[in-house]
Amino acid sequence: MNLIFRRLKVLIVEDEYIIAKDIEATITRLGHDPVGIVSTAEDAIKKAGELKPGLILMDITLKGETDGIEAAKVINDTFGIPIVYLTAHQDEDTIERSKSTNPYGYITKPLDDRDINSAINSAVYRYDVEMKLREAEERYFRLAENAVDLIFSQQADDLSYIYVNKASAGITGFTPEEFYLTPNLMEKMLHPDWIDDYRKHYRSILKNNDHTNFEYMILTKNGGECWLNQRSVVVRDDEGKPATIEAIVTDVTERKTYQKTLEETTEKLRAFSNHLQKVREDERLLISREIHDQLGQDLTVLKMELSLLKKKSGKNAAEKSELKKWSDELGKISNSIDGIINNVRRIATDLRPDILDKLGLVDAIQWHTEEFEKRTGIKCVTALTEEDFTLNIEKAISVFRVFQEAMTNIARHSGASRANITLEIENGRIVLKIADNGRGITAEEIEKNTSLGILGMKERIMLLGGLWRIKGTKVNGTVVEIKVPLDEAED
Ligand SMILES: Nc1ncnc2c1ncn2[C@@H]1O[C@H](COP(=O)(O)OP(=O)(O)OP(=O)(O)O)[C@@H](O)[C@H]1O
Ligand SMILES: [Mg+2]
Repeated sequence: MNLIFRRLKVLIVEDEYIIAKDIEATITRLGHDPVGIVSTAEDAIKKAGELKPGLILMDITLKGETDGIEAAKVINDTFGIPIVYLTAHQDEDTIERSKSTNPYGYITKPLDDRDINSAINSAVYRYDVEMKLREAEERYFRLAENAVDLIFSQQADDLSYIYVNKASAGITGFTPEEFYLTPNLMEKMLHPDWIDDYRKHYRSILKNNDHTNFEYMILTKNGGECWLNQRSVVVRDDEGKPATIEAIVTDVTERKTYQKTLEETTEKLRAFSNHLQKVREDERLLISREIHDQLGQDLTVLKMELSLLKKKSGKNAAEKSELKKWSDELGKISNSIDGIINNVRRIATDLRPDILDKLGLVDAIQWHTEEFEKRTGIKCVTALTEEDFTLNIEKAISVFRVFQEAMTNIARHSGASRANITLEIENGRIVLKIADNGRGITAEEIEKNTSLGILGMKERIMLLGGLWRIKGTKVNGTVVEIKVPLDEAED
């Protein structure tokens, strides 16, 4: 109980003058302020309005046609002033009737100081508690009413609405009143694509107390599409059964639109990058063939002509003396041409290893690994499947390029002395693992956007509908692992 004394203005409604005076003296003695004595219901209502007392002591039986209970009803409705009844020998019906006026207490006549004191104290306490409650309620009501988000509370059994804030109109086009008239209006607004998911979500929150956010699309009153994000809380009764569902719903249409545009742009960029990769590969193939076939052939012809010339120089004596001095020079030129032919072959192969087109991915990887070992001195161990599998040339090129990039990274960044390459077929997928025993790539290096090698690997594999993973530790070095679905078998 609130023990801090508060001086109270008390109105006494009592038609027996002596009793009224007695009460007045008691109230004064208790430190309160008796602001008036009235003897009829009409005067009680009038004075309550004029004096605004903090408490009314109300005799039930009054002079005139109206009794204290009727007066209390009006005072309650109009002024909300706490009322304590003074009762004599009232019958049960009257007492029952008085309860409907929400009395703050009863004091039975004959009155004594102690009864009056405790009735006043408990009335004050109850009034204070009620006021605080009302303030809190009003505060939360104000917060909810002014929120930008749609806030509602609905019965768990029939999904009728108990409370809907006015943001409903701005977001859905339906006013709170329309919500109150139509149970489960939210579900009725759903875009057809979302009905099943929405129902599933409701079943799940009612069953599991799952409060995760849920996003869905509605068609507003004027037919517009609107994306919503709903977070619901289920309030349960004492037996744990769902009683109400309280929800906060945010309009996320703008974010969804941006997200969609972003996804579309990413999709387009990916397609464009794929196209570029393809064009690049085609060009490489073309250049590689041109260099190999055309330049290679021309050089070979040149070399043959040179050796003919050299042979000729040894046939007759006159020519012999004439051309002898050129013979050594021709030999040197022929050697240089050999070197050029080798270089041309290497350049062509680097551009596009024709082994990939002729013998396939496994041989290309084996060949590249051997070349890599020769060039870098890093010991390479391979374990490549001997199983037959089909992989179209585009996929094979992509996998090979990813493999090449991983190997180049080992040479450039890892400081490794060893690399292990395994290629297996697993559940209809080709699984390629390239591991080194170097310093290990760090999480930051994987994430940083400045280098394009890793990004390119990821993109290539994603385009093939495959999986790509890179992991580095100081102890175990770096592992790049890719899984790419094999071609569907043709019937
Ligand atoms: N096997 C590895 N061991 C250790 N660090 C590595 C390894 N592979 C990559 N890294 C680190 O990750 C970074 C990113 O690699 P990425 O291939 O994306 O770029 P890059 O090789 O530096 O440049 P490029 O764009 O020419 O490929 C490298 O700069 C390097 O620091
Ligand atoms: Mg790289």
